[in-house]
Amino acid sequence: MTDRLNGKRAVVTGAAQGIGRGIAEAFVAEGAEVLLVDIDAERLAATANELGQEGLVADVSRKTEIERIFARVAAKWGGLDILVNNAGVTHAAELDELAEDDFDRVFAINLKSALWATQSAARLMGADGSGGSAIVNMSSVNAVLAIPNQIPYAISKGAMKQLTNVTALALAPKGIRVNAIGPGSIMTDMLRGIMTDQAAENRIMSRTPLGRCGEVEEVAAVAVFLASSESSYITGQTIYPDGGRLGLNYTVPVKE
Ligand SMILES: NC(=O)c1ccc[n+]([C@@H]2O[C@H](COP(=O)([O-])OP(=O)(O)OC[C@H]3O[C@@H](n4cnc5c(N)ncnc54)[C@H](O)[C@@H]3O)[C@@H](O)[C@H]2O)c1
Repeated sequence: MTDRLNGKRAVVTGAAQGIGRGIAEAFVAEGAEVLLVDIDAERLAATANELGQEGLVADVSRKTEIERIFARVAAKWGGLDILVNNAGVTHAAELDELAEDDFDRVFAINLKSALWATQSAARLMGADGSGGSAIVNMSSVNAVLAIPNQIPYAISKGAMKQLTNVTALALAPKGIRVNAIGPGSIMTDMLRGIMTDQAAENRIMSRTPLGRCGEVEEVAAVAVFLASSESSYITGQTIYPDGGRLGLNYTVPVKE
């Protein structure tokens, strides 16, 4: 353990598993106290228990639920230093098949949640005289690249770039920094749901110059950096741990 986040109070959404869990784990290892938020009650309880932190079951797609999360934060700590808007889902559908409900659900979870959580969190950040607050949004390479049947996902992540930019500007006078992380293909359940056969794996690898999927810890390391004072002059930016994908035109060879 090092202490880059010593004494910091952090909320991480979508923290029961995957990247969110990895971030919560890394924050705790760096000395932070973390409130883990997730909709999956059973998995959240297990993860929170393993990390020795509090878990709060909530559906971040609803503003009333967001308000309940930050009421708990106010009661628990009286202030807040770090928010990670990580909860997110995909929905595969061709353009002609896409339904309004599915679009609205993905947008509410991936994007709207981050806006209202940022609003609520900002009210608590620095209010108790503490400084150096930071918000980290989970974007994706799909903010700037796209997969034709991941329509709401790509639009939500593209909009996350501007949500990050505009809230960074709005909160700069308060000294609150807002940045985003745009991962490539990271080995979690979300990716396992997409990388279902050899052809899908080859497609992904042909667009991954480093030749492998990323690990949760490699995204968590960026989150620690963006949450800590090491990134004290960075705001409004998206950092892409993507194995080189965004720089690649065409494809790289894959092992058959
Ligand atoms: N895995 C990847 O390759 C990858 C790449 C780029 C971006 N991302 C982004 O990283 C984030 C985490 O993805 P992951 O791969 O860890 O996914 P995951 O499916 O493993 O975990 C997502 C977590 O969010 C929770 N969640 C879903 N809906 C929720 C809701 N309404 N309220 C509260 N919690 C909710 C789930 O229960 C789950 O614990 C997402 O925003 C995703 O878009 C992932």
